[in-house]
Amino acid sequence: MPTVIFQLPDGTERKVTAASGTALMQAAVSNGVPGIVAECGGNASCATCHVYVDAAQSGLAGPPNDVEDEMLDFTAAERRPTSRLSCQIHLSDALDGLVVHVPEEQV
Ligand code: FES
Repeated sequence: MPTVIFQLPDGTERKVTAASGTALMQAAVSNGVPGIVAECGGNASCATCHVYVDAAQSGLAGPPNDVEDEMLDFTAAERRPTSRLSCQIHLSDALDGLVVHVPEEQV
């Protein structure tokens, strides 16, 4: 099972392990990772599950799809080139060790 590291705004980190196929957002919520609000429950319609993929791994998670790309214009924290909606990233062994940064604000 892949493990993902969430870097929190306070400088701490949370390691989360979840089954392949699990949405990164769901893995965060199930493990109580603070700062992943996920108001819409994973429908790519709230932008409150925003994360920044670590710059060193920017290609690992791939680009946002078209709907996600539009929603990323509505994040509370600034959009960056590595911004993704965590509900649209699905874990796989290829993402084992992925590092994502949780923004300061989501709403
Ligand atoms: S949970 Fe709402 S956009 Fe991801």
